[in-house]
Amino acid sequence: MRILLFGPPGVGKGTQAKLLAEAYAIPHYSTGDMLRAAAAAHTQLGLQAKQLMDAGHLVPDPVMIGIVREVLVSPAGRQGFILDGFPRTLPQAEALVDIFREIGITTFCVINVDVDAEEIVRRLGSRLVCDREGKIFNSELDHVQAGEPCPSCGTPLTQRKDDRPDAIRQRLSVYHVKSASVLTFYERLGVVHTVDGAGSNESVNREVRIVLDASVCP
Ligand code: AP5
Ligand code: MG
Repeated sequence: MRILLFGPPGVGKGTQAKLLAEAYAIPHYSTGDMLRAAAAAHTQLGLQAKQLMDAGHLVPDPVMIGIVREVLVSPAGRQGFILDGFPRTLPQAEALVDIFREIGITTFCVINVDVDAEEIVRRLGSRLVCDREGKIFNSELDHVQAGEPCPSCGTPLTQRKDDRPDAIRQRLSVYHVKSASVLTFYERLGVVHTVDGAGSNESVNREVRIVLDASVCP
């Protein structure tokens, strides 16, 4: 199964990708998580990307295309995958066509998660993450606060730098300017399935799985 999870910042891509990766036993590749791991490891790429990410800007296309290509051409990438956060520009979508051609992928589907802007801002403003395990929490839903231990591993929970109000505004603006056209690109290919992301994690997941289990996504 090859799934591209698409949608604006904070819509719940990471939350759903983790549930789907477990349910279908396929790897979850989040470009945001990869960049944050590189930043935490103080690699040159990570440090350069961090400045852009913290301010809510995109990392340049050639860098992102290189990262994703490397993962997908590997043996692990050929077993199926969930791509979360890529492509998010038209050049990235076009490059992915070439990568799929190179590795012989002809079928995939795009799950577009849709939530209104007000709810997105609320979700991002209350998101907390565990830097050790990458788990995603929400202070309102999960009744946890920044600095408190991760319920799963005990590492103190933190707020992402790009979840500050000015960076949230910038990311939403970047999404509308750069990423909305990616959806049109895939709609023309007839591979987009839009799912209402407004319900609970579980109900959204049920809806996504109904789409996937209907075999519309080979
Ligand atoms: P990335 O990490 O991909 O961030 P994003 O796309 O902005 O999306 P988020 O991770 O913020 O949100 P999400 O949709 O995963 O929501 P989540 O599940 O966490 O990218 C970060 C940065 O990296 C970019 O800004 C850019 O700089 C760079 N980058 C990455 N990829 C790139 C690319 N391809 N090209 C260029 N640059 C790139 O949920 C959010 C909150 O909502 C959580 O608190 C969660 O608990 C809560 N929540 C989730 N679902 C529900 C629900 N159903 N009900 C209630 N609350 C919910
Ligand atoms: Mg995410």
